[in-house]
Amino acid sequence: MKAILSLTFISFFILLIGCSTQSEKVDVEQEIEAILKQLTLKEKVDLCHAQSKFSTKGVARLGIPEIWMSDGPHGVRAEIAWDSWDQLGWTNDSCTAFPALTCLAASFNEKLSYKYGKAIGEEARYRKKEVLLAPGINIYRTPLNGRNFEYMGEDPYLASKMVVPYVKGVQGNGVAACVKHFALNNQEKWRGHINVNISERALREIYLPAHKASVIEGGAWAIMGAYNKFRGQHCCHNEELNNKILKGEWGFDGVVISDWGGVHDTKEAALYGMDMEMGTWTDGLHKTKYNAYDNYHLAMPFYEKIKNGEIDESVVDDKVRRILRLMYRTCLNKERPLGSFATQEHFNTAREIAQEGIVLLKNENNFFPINPEAKLKIAVIGHNATHPMTIGGGSSELKTHHEISPLEGIKARFKNAEILYSMGYSAGIGKWWTELPSPYNADSLKTEALKVAKEADLVLFIGGLNKNLHQDSEGTDRKSLNLSYGQDELIEELNKVNEKVGVILVTGNAVAMPWINQVDAVLQTWYLGSEAGNAIADVISGDVNPSGKLPFTFPVRLEDNGAISFGELSYPGDSINQYYKEDIYVGYRWHETKNIKPLFAFGFGLSYSDFEIKESKISKKQFSSGEKLIVNCTVSNTGTIDGAEVVQVYIGKVNSKVDRAVKELKGFKKVFVKGNNDELVSVTIDIDELAFWNEEIDGWELEKGEYFIAIGNSSDNISTQIPFEVN
Ligand code: GLC
Repeated sequence: MKAILSLTFISFFILLIGCSTQSEKVDVEQEIEAILKQLTLKEKVDLCHAQSKFSTKGVARLGIPEIWMSDGPHGVRAEIAWDSWDQLGWTNDSCTAFPALTCLAASFNEKLSYKYGKAIGEEARYRKKEVLLAPGINIYRTPLNGRNFEYMGEDPYLASKMVVPYVKGVQGNGVAACVKHFALNNQEKWRGHINVNISERALREIYLPAHKASVIEGGAWAIMGAYNKFRGQHCCHNEELNNKILKGEWGFDGVVISDWGGVHDTKEAALYGMDMEMGTWTDGLHKTKYNAYDNYHLAMPFYEKIKNGEIDESVVDDKVRRILRLMYRTCLNKERPLGSFATQEHFNTAREIAQEGIVLLKNENNFFPINPEAKLKIAVIGHNATHPMTIGGGSSELKTHHEISPLEGIKARFKNAEILYSMGYSAGIGKWWTELPSPYNADSLKTEALKVAKEADLVLFIGGLNKNLHQDSEGTDRKSLNLSYGQDELIEELNKVNEKVGVILVTGNAVAMPWINQVDAVLQTWYLGSEAGNAIADVISGDVNPSGKLPFTFPVRLEDNGAISFGELSYPGDSINQYYKEDIYVGYRWHETKNIKPLFAFGFGLSYSDFEIKESKISKKQFSSGEKLIVNCTVSNTGTIDGAEVVQVYIGKVNSKVDRAVKELKGFKKVFVKGNNDELVSVTIDIDELAFWNEEIDGWELEKGEYFIAIGNSSDNISTQIPFEVN
């Protein structure tokens, strides 16, 4: 009888909602409470853990839908099997591969980040996913981290500003962004358990800001718990991170989804903020063939502990409220758009992001741009000229509708040129979990490449890293800062047989460049996705004027990196613990404080034009808490070619009572300026953003006294410095 009554009640309730006029904003929270009352304990518990590799149960009895999730940050992954990591081989899931997030960060263009989020969200919506497991925003701590390519660089302010529009763009489609990995997953080595020891100040000033911005400004509906430990507790069930900071201080009302296999304990998962357990490989006792979903920590073990009173039912109710809220924002949201998939519009967006993220690092003897109409003999040398990069790399792998290789893009644009390709070196047959030796003989590849290069008018060496094991990939870190497969030697040899060599790097990480003084030009192109070759051709032909800026420092040597310089306990740790000994001094903060000149600095990037930042002024000289500091300047394009510049605003404290970096990024704006023209630029900074985390008061403190503002187009190229006071 009760079942019939409840069924009647709930169907009546859904009917009521259904016929409520569109204008009436039904109170979701009321609906959630009404549904909660109808659920059995088993149904509530079932909502809190996976039913398959990438989905969780709904409540079939009440017509409450399942939740489906998909990777990843650069595109919607091919459909994965129910119980394994295998792709199902569908023929309707070939997506748009957007550029990696390092490329997006390098654009320093927040509008483009929104465009990115909207487009990838449309693809996730069309593929019927409620949650997109993206974006990744872990801070770039060392150049060895295998997954840096998926993230937004070394600076918390840049990452904070670029993550918000992406989240909003995705969620505008009625798809939840699931911002990852919360928190301190800054390496792949021992990622499943390494215990990060870090000062509260470094945590708050460097590693949390982008997560905080994604929740408070971005309104993220989901957060992914990281694999590693923080202060002795797994991040997926970490009382300090999830209860105190995320759901307490930041007021996060969404769901915490575990990384796949990141949950290790029922009671901790129940009590320390885990809402949806995914990807657990065992039932805690032994490996099972099909992941034994009922044996998940938040499955029967959780159910039993509630039944026997060890855990209060209010604990599961809080999780269910969050999960139902996620549903009302996604699969139960009647207003959400319909999405779109692998459209020309999305390929155009991918190409635009790639164009704006490519960074010109060196350009002498007017090497770039290369006249696309000229009858030139161009030698294109290097495995990365043809090697597909959308596959591999781990969970961000994609089955894309197409991937234009650099060689294809160059051939398509330089129609009058004779393009001579030679592999030069081979990266082997790599996957992200194994590496097979290359079937090619390295010497013969080199000999052939040198012969081709000798007879060419100019050489484009296209190399870098790839998505193989110990390159740029999930699960393993790199072993060196140098390029692999003999590329450094090959570049030096090429330079001996042809004086006009330009290097095009395809990487998601910084690399050493022992040959930097021998080559004419270096172009840093990221993993650019479906339109990679076209975007590279757009830039090297001059169709597009490069405007990207480095989102992380390129050190000359590995030991110039802060984390690395403190030795094994700092990186990668002793396999149990690691200590972030460089503390707040990450990236340019380290280089500038220790006076270690980088190979290329954070924020650096050349253009085919020349820009001047002048007439910089600030709104006044004295500021108080709660006020805004406004910087106005004029950006002159003193060249003839239209282009874009990024005005970067750094701020430093004079005679601070605490240790601080020399200066920190607190504002930026990208501005497009026609040749021989000026544009006015205004950047606004909240004075309270200058506060430092004072561990004595366990809170932010805005230190009074003298500061300076440094305005420039790179962290190592400041055009104006202006003093001001905070009183
Ligand atoms: C992986 C990754 C995470 C990904 C998840 C699902 O281990 O760490 O980023 O979203 O599992 O593939």
